[in-house]
Amino acid sequence: MAGTIDIDSLIQIVSNGGKVTTGIDVYNSNGTLLLEKTFIVTSTKILQLIKESGIKKIPLSADGKSGIWDASGKKISAGPKGPISESRQANADEMSSISLGISLTTLGKRLNEIDESRKLAYENYEVAKKCIKKALNDIKKSGGQFDYAEVSSHVSKLAGFLTIMDNPFSYLTREILSCDDYLYNHSINVCTIGTAIMNKFNIIFSTMISGHLNSSENEAYDPFKKSSGMPKSIYHHFQKDELQSISLGFFLHDIGKVMVPNAILNKTGKLTPEEFDTVKKHSYELGPAIIEKNNLNNPFITNIVKYHHSGLYPDEPHCYPDDGQPEKIPLYAKVCKIADMYDAMTSKTSYKEASNQIHAVTEIFRTYARKDALLQYILQSFIKSIGIYPPGSIVFLRNRQMAFVLESKGPLIIPFTDADGKQLSYKPEPLDLGEDGCDDALKIDNRRSIKNPREVYDLLPSYLKTAKD
Ligand SMILES: [Fe+2]
Ligand SMILES: [Fe+2]
Repeated sequence: MAGTIDIDSLIQIVSNGGKVTTGIDVYNSNGTLLLEKTFIVTSTKILQLIKESGIKKIPLSADGKSGIWDASGKKISAGPKGPISESRQANADEMSSISLGISLTTLGKRLNEIDESRKLAYENYEVAKKCIKKALNDIKKSGGQFDYAEVSSHVSKLAGFLTIMDNPFSYLTREILSCDDYLYNHSINVCTIGTAIMNKFNIIFSTMISGHLNSSENEAYDPFKKSSGMPKSIYHHFQKDELQSISLGFFLHDIGKVMVPNAILNKTGKLTPEEFDTVKKHSYELGPAIIEKNNLNNPFITNIVKYHHSGLYPDEPHCYPDDGQPEKIPLYAKVCKIADMYDAMTSKTSYKEASNQIHAVTEIFRTYARKDALLQYILQSFIKSIGIYPPGSIVFLRNRQMAFVLESKGPLIIPFTDADGKQLSYKPEPLDLGEDGCDDALKIDNRRSIKNPREVYDLLPSYLKTAKD
């Protein structure tokens, strides 16, 4: 009979440097795979996510393939068959993972975490993709109806996953060579980017609010006194259930596109003014009609669907619906627009190739910097979420090598060409450029023009080409 271990005990062991492998796949009540049976968990993030999904005990297989080790590599539990023993020796396979654990550098641990998160992200995204595909197909077939409860349940799991990930931008789903699944990938990516921005925004504002409340200079609020300590602007902070509705809105923001003929959506040439008018309607007319038809009554979703192409500042060009009042557009709909722009710019579509992520961040920053204060906080949340060198960007190093950014924190990079631009014949060690003493020749050369993904695709080694490898 299989045994179990309390999730909190496991979190404690792993947070103290231990590790676990269950030897048995762990699913949630909806049948979503949360933890693969052979996976060696070295980070508490995954366990926290499992805990958040409501699971209190983790199963351990009875066939000797499960194991729990402490920070020194000692097996403290061999699963239900073996007694808990400090001195028990692990088998050869287990020993290799233990010695790996002991010798792991900080960089090694980060790479392990990235790898672990990528696998989990891939599982989550595959489920989300099936979900949005089904919802959009249902709408098409039925003329507007879809299973809201099912979509909502999937998105709350995805949002939960994104909340505990430091850098969800690392896990965006992109097809560089085709745009077949563009709308599905785009829905997931906008949900990912938008949720990350909202989470960061909440943190920044919580810090500001607590700073204000704890300030010794803060005086009691007196509405009749002009110099009162009350903040001049209205604070925005979103509760958990509101954030869930907002994530759902991000996921469904382009739902109205289902009603736009494919011949227009997939047209490679320039759209005629009439065709462009039809496309525009996906936000302010077709999308809200679907929301209404399903009796959703959720203002967060409706506002996001309706206003995600609105102007963020007065007279911003190419925006719709254009009522000239950006101050009335809800903050989260503005966040959706930024997330939408970033994903559209960095993905291949039927009418253009993907842009380099650094170019997209710079372009968005240039467009919205020095506008109203609230927009600056959204922009700050976006830049803080994604970093100056977003994951997936291609950069030049000062020694003329090209490198792929794995993670914006650092940044963490993998060089993939030599100084002459030829693909490396081996897999080099990733480098953390943020580490003290990093060789100057390996720093990023910001004077060289950046490359778009398609331009360097043939030079990229296979292990960098897709998220699922
Ligand atoms: Fe849209
Ligand atoms: Fe969109």
